[in-house]
Amino acid sequence: MRQSRLLSSAIEAIGETPVVELTRLTRGVDGCILAKLEYLNPGFSKKDRIARQIIEDAEAQDLLAPGGIVVELTSGNTGTGLAIVCGIKGYRFVAVMSRGNSMERARMMSALGAEVVLVDQLPGSIPGQVSGGDLALVEEVAQRITAERGAFRADQFRQPGNFRAHYLHTGPEYLRQSGGRIDAFCDFAGTGGSFAGCAAAFKEHDPAIQCFVVEPEGAAVLAGEPAEHPNHRIQGGGYAMPDLPLLRPGHIDGYLKVSDEEAILMARRLAREEGIFAGFSSGANVAAALKLLSTTHKGLTVAVLINDSGLKYLSTDLWGNLP
Ligand SMILES: Cc1ncc(COP(=O)(O)O)c(C=O)c1O
Repeated sequence: MRQSRLLSSAIEAIGETPVVELTRLTRGVDGCILAKLEYLNPGFSKKDRIARQIIEDAEAQDLLAPGGIVVELTSGNTGTGLAIVCGIKGYRFVAVMSRGNSMERARMMSALGAEVVLVDQLPGSIPGQVSGGDLALVEEVAQRITAERGAFRADQFRQPGNFRAHYLHTGPEYLRQSGGRIDAFCDFAGTGGSFAGCAAAFKEHDPAIQCFVVEPEGAAVLAGEPAEHPNHRIQGGGYAMPDLPLLRPGHIDGYLKVSDEEAILMARRLAREEGIFAGFSSGANVAAALKLLSTTHKGLTVAVLINDSGLKYLSTDLWGNLP
């Protein structure tokens, strides 16, 4: 559980999130789902962890001068974590984000002191559906600003700090909190950092723990399928990028697919039945875990991350037109 001592800043409140067994959602199901509530981090997502690790790794390697500038491409959550960490440590932070991501995220980063640069989506794209093509445009702008300002690029797709945050903390915390009682882990991949770090920690503990990458239906390129529906609604990942540098293929035991509707319905069930108010990708993780329990993993325990807060999607259709 969370530390009871006095903390010197909100950075120290990152991590040590609780794990809850989803007993209501799994009523009548043979097996158990454990959910780690990452939305209880100060920036309301798991990405606070990587923000802290990437910045502290850069400091340890003398890559960041006092008062230096940090730039990152973000779907909002990493940027929020970086805004918190940089603000407290006295760095300037520039967040580069697609206009396709929800506006709560841009407003929150600004409130935390970040400079937010919004990049238009490709012509014909739909807000809320950010594709790999949209991200390529954001990447171009992030690279240009980094070069122009002589900044440190947090580079969540490549920096080992993304992997290390989950390998050193999220995974080991999960093992400790569950008493090592995990048979499988499934995780919706964006950069793949959470999957890679947790899977490495889990497999080091017990190589029999099976780890599954979760992808959007119609954009399961890591599983080797064509990207027929890259404009899905599961924000934060599923970018249809076939090469994710942080992923270790030897740690992937399989791939699972979740549709927009399945992710949305499960996020709504999480809220109503378990009191867990989370976003699309958390719904995707739990929907994938239920698939495992009803097929290959009957009677076993599946671990997932609850990635971010449902508050980040109040302007989207995630909570719209509820019956
Ligand atoms: C809401 C949400 N879900 C899932 C992910 C994917 O996590 P990862 O980049 O560790 O694969 C992200 C990443 O930004 C995210 O913001």
